[in-house]
Amino acid sequence: MVDINTRISEITLENPLLLASGILGQTADSMKNILESGMGGVVTKSIGLEPREGHSNPTMIETEHGLLNAMGLPNPGIDVFLKELKNLSRESKPIIGSVFAGDKEEFIELSVKMEEGGVDAVELNLSCPHAEGYGAAIGTDPELVKDIVRTVKRNTKVPIFAKLTPFSDIVDVAVAAEEAGSDAIVAINTVQAMAINFETRKPFLGNQVGGYSGPAIKPIGLKCVYDIYQNVDIPIIGCGGITYGRDALEYITAGASALQIGSAIYYRGKDAGALIVEEMKDIMEKEDIKSLVELIGSAQQF
Ligand SMILES: Cc1cc2nc3c(=O)[nH]c(=O)nc-3n(C[C@H](O)[C@H](O)[C@H](O)COP(=O)(O)O)c2cc1C
Repeated sequence: MVDINTRISEITLENPLLLASGILGQTADSMKNILESGMGGVVTKSIGLEPREGHSNPTMIETEHGLLNAMGLPNPGIDVFLKELKNLSRESKPIIGSVFAGDKEEFIELSVKMEEGGVDAVELNLSCPHAEGYGAAIGTDPELVKDIVRTVKRNTKVPIFAKLTPFSDIVDVAVAAEEAGSDAIVAINTVQAMAINFETRKPFLGNQVGGYSGPAIKPIGLKCVYDIYQNVDIPIIGCGGITYGRDALEYITAGASALQIGSAIYYRGKDAGALIVEEMKDIMEKEDIKSLVELIGSAQQF
């Protein structure tokens, strides 16, 4: 028997996989389905103060090695979302509320509301690459990130995760988030990219530019986790291109304590979590690795 329990701050996960934000995390039913299908927990869709329609279609296409999306953070607004969250019976698995905002005051208001709504942690989306004034526009500035994380921490009790973008000097931003009291770093969000339709001589996406996810970005995410691990002491949640059990274990050896799974749901279906968990266990058994925790950071060459 191998042990794949892990911990992020005060949260214990029965397995290290969390559904990544933006993928089936908006309704109580979709989150319940994912929890029942084997994920250790769920991160909700990123929620803002007001309802938002997002970008015009097409908002997502499949490319050769990954997915390209420019959803533009569509969401029902925090008040409607929290009513939805009430309908979710937890089965004792953690729910992490993801929030996006244009400034510090909005981040505080959203985080406090998420906490009151009963989430186990709040994830600050400091990294969306395709929504002007939000996400990566904020998360590339270490001083701004420090200020936001510090004030959110002062106003909340639940653990706070900072989700970062690979466009910045991600290590500087991760260090700033840690200094401000962040309980974990999530790395990475999608990578800014585009696709062009040669026949029409136009970009495919309604927003022209989008975020790249899936297998193509795994090496980028791995490097970010590897570098961050050498510079912070708080846990890292690895994300980006994790599709099979082996990908998950690679992230753990780079320094991740837990993982988020997004595009794999598109490639492997809603049971992707259960499949990845089984694959991880198989590999660990073959390699005679008893516990996941002993693998964290084991590929580091100091
Ligand atoms: C369709 C789609 C919507 C997404 N929406 C969000 C979001 O609302 N908030 C967020 O922080 N990340 C969002 N992401 C990014 C994912 O959470 C994740 O960081 C990224 O896709 C990389 O992981 P993956 O390669 O496993 O998909 C979205 C990704 C996709 C594909």
